[in-house]
Amino acid sequence: MDFPDGFLWGASTAAHQIEGGNINSDWWQREWGHLPGPAIAEPSGDAADSYHRFPQDMALLAEAGLAAYRFSIEWARIEPEKGWVSRAAIDHYRRMVDTARENGLEPVITLHHFTNPVWFAREGGWLTDASVDAFRRYVEAALPVLEGVSLVCTINEPNMVSVLADPEVGFPSIGLPPGVPDVTDRLIAAHRAAVELVRSTGSQAGWSVATQAYQPEPGAEEVAAEYGWSREDVFLEAAKGDDWVGVQAYTRTVIGPDGPREIPDAAERTLTGWEYYPSAVGDGIRNAWKRAQAPVYVTENGIATADDRRRIDYTTGALEAVHACIVDGIDVRGYLHWSALDNYEWGSYRPTFGLIAWDRETFERHPKPSLAWLGGVARANALPVPPPGR
Ligand code: FCB
Repeated sequence: MDFPDGFLWGASTAAHQIEGGNINSDWWQREWGHLPGPAIAEPSGDAADSYHRFPQDMALLAEAGLAAYRFSIEWARIEPEKGWVSRAAIDHYRRMVDTARENGLEPVITLHHFTNPVWFAREGGWLTDASVDAFRRYVEAALPVLEGVSLVCTINEPNMVSVLADPEVGFPSIGLPPGVPDVTDRLIAAHRAAVELVRSTGSQAGWSVATQAYQPEPGAEEVAAEYGWSREDVFLEAAKGDDWVGVQAYTRTVIGPDGPREIPDAAERTLTGWEYYPSAVGDGIRNAWKRAQAPVYVTENGIATADDRRRIDYTTGALEAVHACIVDGIDVRGYLHWSALDNYEWGSYRPTFGLIAWDRETFERHPKPSLAWLGGVARANALPVPPPGR
């Protein structure tokens, strides 16, 4: 299974999940009970100390054969106090861009990956109209980091930001709460402002949406369409006119006449409790292509498992689905695996998504066989045809 020439192979991370010591962010402050919100099981602490160890992390990806590294820059470090920009933080992220290039990796930069500066959260965050302008000013300040970077993601999973925005609404056992319309509107406005700024540096701008592969049972098509709109589709439609759209996919949600179906007991589950369903990424790509009508990059896809063979199996299935989309004429330009490293999975270190493990005390890196495997796929720009019966 060959992939198109120039197909971009890489791995993704997000600052708060790997850097460590992100103390001026709302997440850190919530982890230690300094901001209201639901209790968080485990604090992020030093995480993987990738704030200091990024050269080694990048070198491992490049040596394995990957060609791109997606990482996020942290608003809470760049603007730890409202209106005060840290030159040192800008320089730090600039060094990351340069180091990626020195390693032969294409840097793909995310400007916002869930975390906010604590001052922004205290002022009401995305629940206030001032959020759009605050974000625009941050992006403006961060532009020096983006010089010469081809691909920039403005906001990671704006749909997750919206569905989680109402602190009163709890998480259902299956599916997601609906998006909060005002928050969705502000995120779209913030995105539009950021796209304009990002393009002024010559970079290609897009955003990455969490796709949930909403699969209607026969007769539940309208229920599924209605369900998917505020949680996914509105964000994909808002990507119309962008330079690219990012698809992030992990699992599916089957929709019956009354909404999402619980996962059947017999189904295999991953460490996040999600159904093991590798071809979800194909559903996500098809929905994104139909709605955004822009070139697609898979900016996240992977599995939380302690069994690295299941990771390879999952990723094989996912790449078969990506390939099928390409065969059908969809312009898919890259695949960035989640995640380069085991990381802080928003409250816990237990769900291990990484191609690279690391020691919690010494931070020593331990690449898993899946890293060499994915690097081999990248080098060949082809997926080996699976043995019969896989
Ligand atoms: C996505 C997030 C990412 C990670 C993966 C598992 O929703 O963008 O940070 O948590 O899920």
